[in-house]
Amino acid sequence: MAASIFAAVPLSPPVAVFKLTADFREDGDSRKVNLGVGAYRTDEGQPWVLPVVKKVKQLIVNDNSLNHEYLPILGLPEFRANASRIALGDDSPAIKENRVGSVQSLGGTGALRIGADFLRRWYNGNNNTATPVYVSSPTWENHNSVFMDAGFKDIRPYHYWDAAKRGLDIQGLLNDMESAPESSIFVLHACAHNPTGTDPSPEQWKQIAAVMKRRSLFPFFDSAYQGFASGSLDKDAWAVRFFVSEGFELFCAQSFSKNFGLYNERVGNLTVVGKDADNVKRVLSQMEKIVRTTWSNPPSQGARIVATTLSSPQLFDEWKGNVKTMADRVLLMRSELRSRLEALGTPGTWNHITEQIGMFSFTGLNPKQVEYLVKEKHIYLLASGRINMCGLTTKNLDYVAKSIHEAVTKIQ
Ligand SMILES: Cc1ncc(COP(=O)(O)O)c(C=O)c1O
Repeated sequence: MAASIFAAVPLSPPVAVFKLTADFREDGDSRKVNLGVGAYRTDEGQPWVLPVVKKVKQLIVNDNSLNHEYLPILGLPEFRANASRIALGDDSPAIKENRVGSVQSLGGTGALRIGADFLRRWYNGNNNTATPVYVSSPTWENHNSVFMDAGFKDIRPYHYWDAAKRGLDIQGLLNDMESAPESSIFVLHACAHNPTGTDPSPEQWKQIAAVMKRRSLFPFFDSAYQGFASGSLDKDAWAVRFFVSEGFELFCAQSFSKNFGLYNERVGNLTVVGKDADNVKRVLSQMEKIVRTTWSNPPSQGARIVATTLSSPQLFDEWKGNVKTMADRVLLMRSELRSRLEALGTPGTWNHITEQIGMFSFTGLNPKQVEYLVKEKHIYLLASGRINMCGLTTKNLDYVAKSIHEAVTKIQ
């Protein structure tokens, strides 16, 4: 028999965060804790189907007017309009001026990919693979790959995390923007930065916007955690809305995986804000072509759940309550972990645990300390030291705090 035509295919390493969860599942130790996964967990350590989602799913099941025909290529109109509305705000001038368009996508990742594909084809010249794309250092690892797979050849990190002060390196960030070639694309986390849990303040966002405007840089917001940072949808959308009010043309990739708990429904939205209706129309016409060759047509269930919820004032209020429940649990776990580490006298400072926001905390644990926690304590977290605060529960907090204490005191 001839050798396989696939004989030269190299084995790719598994995606770290999914590998971690697989290792966690296989671990037979009763003390095991998963702080790696990027999903919400209840205080019982279980996934949460939001009560409002349960209710809306029932409404959908009982609605005999619905069927399983194809949607429009760009997605369910009432979903797209409502999704953009919660990103830009009820009285967004851009929406009123009819210069906002959107594309329903397969999760936030799909929105990033459609946006990246479009920019590569049509932004700053045709098929411009040389335009630099800047992503924060560190960032959600998929940002690099999505833009690379869309064809961009020059993906650069911009300063973001100052490890020594465990906070934002605003000066480094602004310097990178000052020295970036004109028309560079900057991927900005709208809120609850993954993995650092550290966002610019409104004043810092104003500085960022001023430089970006002066240097003609393109803002591509990634909004995967709206509601998770502060518990308020409006507060968490402040940066995006500020940029729109400053007259930027921009993209905003939204994910409803986290704030609706619809991880496997793959529901996201790409909001496009342009100068006028005509520009947006032409952009969307090209995006429609990209969708056609990518997934051809989007799935309806997640979009229907989100659209039904957002278009009913009562269900919308219920959803905001559900989001607040999740955000409040994260806040509680932050303060509980910090107070335990401080009570134990764990070397170092731990105020960053409560100062950071969103689902994740960048603990400052080094790779060796992480390895100790995984191997000796059955506590699973990313090598970067990022932990998902929702992996903590009232039952495992003491164990996790003591284990971190041991790791920090034993291993430098
Ligand atoms: C920063 C960031 N952007 C985008 C996404 C994509 O989410 P989705 O699962 O909706 O594709 C995630 C998910 O972890 C994320 O953390």
